[in-house]
Amino acid sequence: MNCKPVVSEDIIEAARKLCIERQCNDATGHSHYHSFRVHDTTVALQASEGGNPLKVCIAALLHDVNDKKLLKKGVEPIDLVVFLSDCGLEIEIGNHIVAIIDNVSFKGASVEQIVPDIETAIVMDADRLDAIGAIGIARAFAYGGATGHDLYEPDERPEMHSDEESYFANRHCTVNHFHEKLLLLKDRMNTDTGKQMAQKRHNYMINFLKQFHAEWTGEI
Ligand code: ADP
Ligand code: NI
Repeated sequence: MNCKPVVSEDIIEAARKLCIERQCNDATGHSHYHSFRVHDTTVALQASEGGNPLKVCIAALLHDVNDKKLLKKGVEPIDLVVFLSDCGLEIEIGNHIVAIIDNVSFKGASVEQIVPDIETAIVMDADRLDAIGAIGIARAFAYGGATGHDLYEPDERPEMHSDEESYFANRHCTVNHFHEKLLLLKDRMNTDTGKQMAQKRHNYMINFLKQFHAEWTGEI
């Protein structure tokens, strides 16, 4: 990259472009629209919770560009500190943005989540809000289909993974993913605003699962 923007709007624009470049045409529920929604929710959360607006916006836009479960064969992760520095951002700020991104991902139900600052709290909540509710349901089944998971397997039991490796290696059906992650997120929101937003989306998933099981067992 050879751009040397001086105002933050230019850096945001460069981050949006990179996000489109890396995530367009994704069939797992992680297209650039996912990161754009996380960005917009981040803006809303920052308005009520505080934190550095530029850091959270850039972290939201770039949080999945290097996600190891999404990297296509032959595509190398991009050095985000170098990318941001080429955009005119100080190394120290770039390092903090990368640290926020490193802590955002869910790593298993029994793995402690590390939230060192308000910026991490906000981006984590925004990412998790996009994992629940109607969009969360759509994304989970898109991911399940794209990676070869069955919709539902009645004999399978959910597992509360205590390490990242077993969480990512897990081949459970998509309905189990609700119990292993999605239904837990409401009580793990970091911010009050995130907690309020999560409640409605959580209720929607509960209703969806009730209907799913009622249809499965022939009650409806
Ligand atoms: P995180 O980094 O916290 O995993 P992402 O933005 O990468 O958050 O999105 C994760 C989403 O991908 C989940 O909320 C879900 O929709 C989907 N996903 C990940 N693993 C699975 C799985 N095993 N089964 C179904 N969906 C999954
Ligand atoms: Ni994400």
